[in-house]
Amino acid sequence: MNAIDSLDTTCDVLIIGSGIAGLSLALKVANVGKVIVLTKTNLKECATILAQGGISAVLSSEDSFDKHIQDTINVGDGLCHPDVVRKIVFAGPERIKELVEWGVQFSKRGSDHYDLGLEAGHSYRRVVHSKDITGVNIQETLINRVLEDPRITVLENHIAINLKIRAGRCLGAYVLDKQKDIVKNFAARVTVLATGGLGKAFLYTSNPDISSGDGIAMAYRAGATVMNMEFIQFHPTLLYHPHAKSFLISEALRGEGAKLIDASGNRFMAAYDSRLELAPRDIVARAMDAELKRSGNDCLFLDISFKDSDFIKNRFPGIHAKCLGLGIDITKELIPVVPAAHYAIGGVKASVSGSTDIPGLLAIGETACTGFHGANRLASNSLLESSVMAHFAAQECRNLLDKAPPACSFSPWHSGDAVDSDESVVVSQNWMELRLLMWNYVGVVRSDKRFRRAQQRIHLLQDEINQYYWDFHITSDLIELRNLADVAQMVIDAGFHRKESRGVHYTIDYPKKRKTIKDTLLRKSVRSEIFNSSNCD
Ligand code: FAD
Ligand code: SIN
Repeated sequence: MNAIDSLDTTCDVLIIGSGIAGLSLALKVANVGKVIVLTKTNLKECATILAQGGISAVLSSEDSFDKHIQDTINVGDGLCHPDVVRKIVFAGPERIKELVEWGVQFSKRGSDHYDLGLEAGHSYRRVVHSKDITGVNIQETLINRVLEDPRITVLENHIAINLKIRAGRCLGAYVLDKQKDIVKNFAARVTVLATGGLGKAFLYTSNPDISSGDGIAMAYRAGATVMNMEFIQFHPTLLYHPHAKSFLISEALRGEGAKLIDASGNRFMAAYDSRLELAPRDIVARAMDAELKRSGNDCLFLDISFKDSDFIKNRFPGIHAKCLGLGIDITKELIPVVPAAHYAIGGVKASVSGSTDIPGLLAIGETACTGFHGANRLASNSLLESSVMAHFAAQECRNLLDKAPPACSFSPWHSGDAVDSDESVVVSQNWMELRLLMWNYVGVVRSDKRFRRAQQRIHLLQDEINQYYWDFHITSDLIELRNLADVAQMVIDAGFHRKESRGVHYTIDYPKKRKTIKDTLLRKSVRSEIFNSSNCD
């Protein structure tokens, strides 16, 4: 493998990741200098394109900013940063307007009004959507806009490996060009992590294959503070079918009245929460986990078949078609579902503008943690946060470029004595083991005993993976595996540290909330170390 240091890869703003966060930012900073967007597979592989429910924003005169703020804070279970919540919620309607100006078509009721959906935790219908293919509409629109802008360079099949830090400042990143199999230096005045979440650390997840926590792991290894990693949101309804790879059944179905039932047809949510299927996701996911453990069954069922079949086909065309392709007619039959890891609430500690504690480095979208979601994310609030962060990050980039030093070159990547691996099975074995241990020990319901077991095992895995990383030529699977092990370790350490149950973090050893409300902050030492916790309000 060769290493090169090419001047062609020098830019003003380097954006790593091409979901809603990365592409929206690219469009907004194209006029300030040379912009490069890197994406590790292709422009269509990301969580954004999979979004079904929609984006929450105050768009009706009967709704109010106060209600949206209050719903976000209620679901966040005491850990939301109220100033951040206000800033993001107030910015919502402008961002929806902008997406529409860029060409996104949201579903309407009549000619003037958006058809607003309802999801758990919202006291009002405020989820703007494009039926159940909202993400496809958004991502394809953004891709078209970016590709037609000659000022933006997009490089597919480029996976960032590590950030380059010198004298505490981020100078860019080392990146593997997967097709040429070479590591390139990308030198930038501002580097932005927009690499999405980390769902692939868990055996069952709604996330796409790219969600391996790369940005969080890179920032952490570079010395950035990472926040609230214990809070992994589990979505209650992933389709349970041997041939369905990670297909979500949107919460919007429950918003339209769909019921959760067990194998005997019993509507079990009544035993857990008076809000039934529209209780916040953590409550529904835990109830399902308890029902599955109690019965020993493999799945539970969602029933929307009692609704008018034309309504179902028209409102949920993507889900209807996908299920039909697998032999399930949702207008007549039950949908088998299980909970699955869905969203990383924690991430690189960042302001709403994406600023991290490393100069020259921003983090936006699901990679970042601003305190907006607190301990539990209100449904459809993440596309909102990503879009708002991209907007404010663009302003931040402009400010930084006014004063940031020119991009400077740095030493090329050294592979040392690394040779080609003759045993790729080590990667697949460790990958499987890691995802299984996270699912079994750090899943919906946690305990100190499980955390201890998980800690022991993740340390062994990390040692083995790191050894492999240094001994053999780097591949994209290995980069992802190393990142997954790093983020898994952060989730375990942060979870073990939180001696209470709050939001999506539930441990049987500490079922109550503590009086003092604190964020969990991690920074790298030999193993990760909980160095501080700050009061959140
Ligand atoms: P992503 O869209 O995941 O994009 C990440 C990008 O980074 C990808 O292009 C990836 O290739 C790239 N990348 C990653 N690592 C590297 C690397 N090392 N080098 C180069 N590139 C890299 N939220 C809502 O608000 N409403 C919804 O209805 C909704 N539905 C959802 C449904 C599903 C099935 C899922 C999985 C999530 C859903 N979410 C929803 C959450 C929401 O989609 C995500 O939080 C949001 O899209 C994240 O956007 P992003 O730009 O941060 O990341
Ligand atoms: C869904 O459509 O159920 C997902 C919405 C979200 O994750 O915000």
